[in-house]
Amino acid sequence: MTSLQTPPPDTGTAEHAWWRHGVIYQVYIRSFADSDGDGIGDLGGIRSRLSYLRDLGVDAVWITPFYPSPMADGGYDVADYRDIEPVFGTLGDAEALVREAHELGLHVLIDIVPNHSSDQHEWFQAALRAAPGSPERERYIFRPGRGPAGALPPNDWESVFGGPAWQRVADGDWYLHLFAPQQPDFNWENAEVVEDFHRTLRFWLDRGVDGFRIDVANSLKKDRALPDLGDFDQDLLEAHSGPHHPIWDRDAVHEVYRGWRLVLEEYDGERAFVAEAWVRDAERLALYVRPDELHTAFNFDYLRAAWDAEELRATIDSCLATTGAVGAPTTWVLSNHDVTRHATRYARLDSTAGGVGEGERAGPDTPLDLELGLRRARAAALLTLALPGSAYLYQGEELGLPEVLDLPEDVLQDPIWARSGHRERGRDGCRVPLPWSTDGPSLGFGTGKAWLPQPADWGSRSVAAQQDDPGSTLELYRAALAVRRGTPAFGEGPMSWIDSPAGTLAFERQPPEGAGSRVVCLVNLSDRPVPLPAYDVVLLASGPLDHPGTLPPDTTVWLR
Ligand code: GLC
Ligand code: MG
Repeated sequence: MTSLQTPPPDTGTAEHAWWRHGVIYQVYIRSFADSDGDGIGDLGGIRSRLSYLRDLGVDAVWITPFYPSPMADGGYDVADYRDIEPVFGTLGDAEALVREAHELGLHVLIDIVPNHSSDQHEWFQAALRAAPGSPERERYIFRPGRGPAGALPPNDWESVFGGPAWQRVADGDWYLHLFAPQQPDFNWENAEVVEDFHRTLRFWLDRGVDGFRIDVANSLKKDRALPDLGDFDQDLLEAHSGPHHPIWDRDAVHEVYRGWRLVLEEYDGERAFVAEAWVRDAERLALYVRPDELHTAFNFDYLRAAWDAEELRATIDSCLATTGAVGAPTTWVLSNHDVTRHATRYARLDSTAGGVGEGERAGPDTPLDLELGLRRARAAALLTLALPGSAYLYQGEELGLPEVLDLPEDVLQDPIWARSGHRERGRDGCRVPLPWSTDGPSLGFGTGKAWLPQPADWGSRSVAAQQDDPGSTLELYRAALAVRRGTPAFGEGPMSWIDSPAGTLAFERQPPEGAGSRVVCLVNLSDRPVPLPAYDVVLLASGPLDHPGTLPPDTTVWLR
């Protein structure tokens, strides 16, 4: 298999490894680009747009799950971890994609989903056919019910998507599913499960991938006694985690990742893991990125922070301190396929943060100022890209796309919609297929009708419409990524806050010795213009600087 490997691009030494400072672009495969006209994005679509990503100036792509899947949760219900969903293409396409990305200097991270499989996975099908207590059932979490005739679920846990976390099977046993019923949880106390994931990691590492994004990385090791939650908060996004929560972020989960790290170390090149772990406490998050575990973890506190100078500064400080203490870089992320797009979060007039947790999402009636949201989103992008560490971009944020809040109910596919009894619309509004051109059946996404309808005005937000327009958000991102790449002070390295007026953030980035100049990033989150500090050159600004010497509200500037 090693013959399939292509040399990973320009990896640097461990100290300067790409993942410590790189910009990673998240491709939500169903919605990025469709090569075969079936209205669903696919591997061919990604291959055809790799040069777009190279020209944008990112270092890597993370591709959401592309495995065979009945799509009960957009591919996060995996039926076979070592193959490709036919709707998305073939294994050959995946291998070609990795090769072509490497040729363009792009690293490739893929998604791995270890908490649960699809109910169509051969192991779960075998478990259903086998008897209670059998080895086949031991790979998942089956239990007898409570109450007369075991008719009540084994405990009080609820599914993250709504409703009970237990489903009863024909012989009366119940199985645990923290997400949809089509996503049975694996039993991570079972040696076969541990082994099989090592096999999956090697399968893809043999095909040259540069690493993995680990789905719900903090939930694998439940309390074996499966106690009722009682006073513990169940909400995945809000749970105050800690070693005693029966589900989230238990200490034992770290064993799993020490094992995964050893597998990764069998391979050459700078490969890396990034954990999706919704952990409330920066110190607990840092445990995942200790030197013998994962390389990086998404920093969701930053994504959850309001557009507020004090809150952002406190978040930045605690994230840098806690990851720095274990020698890991911090990651910065504003949007992904699970949360309201930040151009819409920052547009909200009813709250400055809301829109991350369920029940907080904007709906068709939420009061919004989308112009304000876009101005802030652009300013936030320059803040994010100036911070030390690596950064994640979510497809479409470079176009300034807002959340689509008015999708017709009959097209909604997120399991949250049905599981919440049609109270929560779910996450489809951030998953609408990208507009590439100003017209055509799906605005250049493909040749057919897209799986979710695009808003009528998205042609004007398309890549083609923004390309070469110096005021566009696309060109702002391209410029920012080019400046970042050419400025040694950016990426990993020290930053220090400098004094600045209330409601602003100002910090300096120092280059490694002898490698260029210091750079200052100033963000104005207040509602009035502020004076610019002394500078030689404006490297980039997120909006027009019409009054010399001052920075308008909701604008960021990089100064040399
Ligand atoms: C992660 C994914 C999300 C998915 C869930 C269950 O949070 O990002 O999209 O629904 O895990 O796999
Ligand atoms: Mg397709």
